[in-house]
Amino acid sequence: MSVTVVDHPLAEHLLTSLRDRTTSPPVFRTLAKRLALALALEALRDLPTREVRVETPLEPATGRVLGDLVAVPILRAGLGMLEAVTELFPEVAVGYIGLERDEASLLPQSYYRKLPPVDGRHVLVLDPMLATGGSGSAACTAVKEAGRAESIRFVCVVSAPEGIRKMQDDHPDIPIFTAAVDRQLNEHGYILPGLGDFGDRLFGTE
Ligand code: PRP
Ligand code: URA
Repeated sequence: MSVTVVDHPLAEHLLTSLRDRTTSPPVFRTLAKRLALALALEALRDLPTREVRVETPLEPATGRVLGDLVAVPILRAGLGMLEAVTELFPEVAVGYIGLERDEASLLPQSYYRKLPPVDGRHVLVLDPMLATGGSGSAACTAVKEAGRAESIRFVCVVSAPEGIRKMQDDHPDIPIFTAAVDRQLNEHGYILPGLGDFGDRLFGTE
């Protein structure tokens, strides 16, 4: 399984502001969207295209168009990454997977799932935090249960070594795109140094 760390200077700059505890929810939302855009572009760099013919005002031309794409944000925090993808690829179909970590067991509890057909399509699973990896892995399992996607990619903002190992064990076929691999998890399953609770910071629910 591959892990791509998107270390473009702009991505590093945005991530640093997201980590900063003084960044307010409105600014956090804007920066998260910008960083998601950089991550999505990298994750889709090798997205297959197909050849088409178009008529320019002067003559026929050959061009290439994108294949079918599905974005699947993991609720809630994944919503902070969705708009970047829908703006880049307006034709994208969107599925939702609702998962919430149980605070004691750290296991993801599923509360919602609505996926479009995924057969033959390229799926981007969006979740900013890959901590224990329980949520990311469960979401990828749900996408696999929904059909035979052409490809599945996992896009996150910050990942922990523990989460990467879990994804490697459960889904060695799914590449991960992340802005950073942080040091470790603390005893409550939070990423260190991390950026805190992404969902709370995004929606101001702290
Ligand atoms: C956060 C985050 C991931 C999950 C990561 O969601 O957005 O989905 O935790 O942790 P894991 O890798 O250990 O599973 P949370 O459960 O806090 O829900 P929220 O998005 O509604 O805030
Ligand atoms: N979820 C978050 O929002 N942050 C973490 O550090 C871990 C899980």
